Amino acid sequence: MISGDNMTLDELNEKCLACRACKLCEGRTNLVFGVGNEKSKIMFVGEGPGEQEDLQGYPFVGRSGQLLDKLLAVIDLSRDKNVYIANIVKCRPPKNRDPEAQEQDECIKWLREQFKIIRPEIVVCLGRIAAQRLISPDFRVTRQHGEFIKKGDTLFMGTYHPSALLRYPENKEAAFADFLALRGKIKEMNIQI
Ligand code: URA
Repeated sequence: MISGDNMTLDELNEKCLACRACKLCEGRTNLVFGVGNEKSKIMFVGEGPGEQEDLQGYPFVGRSGQLLDKLLAVIDLSRDKNVYIANIVKCRPPKNRDPEAQEQDECIKWLREQFKIIRPEIVVCLGRIAAQRLISPDFRVTRQHGEFIKKGDTLFMGTYHPSALLRYPENKEAAFADFLALRGKIKEMNIQI
């Protein structure tokens, strides 16, 4: 338990800044804690900061972030308004390698605290690392993208990572359909965004 009652995201961010639980903090320029509306009912979770995110201190601000912002805009979502975006690990893995299991194990506690404060109704996992961590260890994005899975009070959905879409644009149509399904789910659940 890190967060006391009524802890804000800013206070949690301060605590996270002091974290030295894994070696990723040694190589970072900035901690990439998260961005968006604290009261949002929809959260997006990626894998970990890349180069631009490390330099600027915010998630998804590089090329993949531009694509994510476009997909969000199509369904009337925006980091400035009604979503919160974070990552499984808060410090950049060297050369953008996958975060190691131990790094994920240490860092996920911060994400769990973010969940406790924000209490999202829907969490969208961007890519394999987030989906395998938050939905199921054997999650396969190619087979299970777009499926909504209830865990506790929260619905989870996995979709393609925007970086993967830049590398394999042929999957953009499927990702687009996942975002439309998300919009449908928001309406169906009567979530006010
Ligand atoms: N990729 C991620 O998974 N997260 C970011 O913040 C940027 C790129």
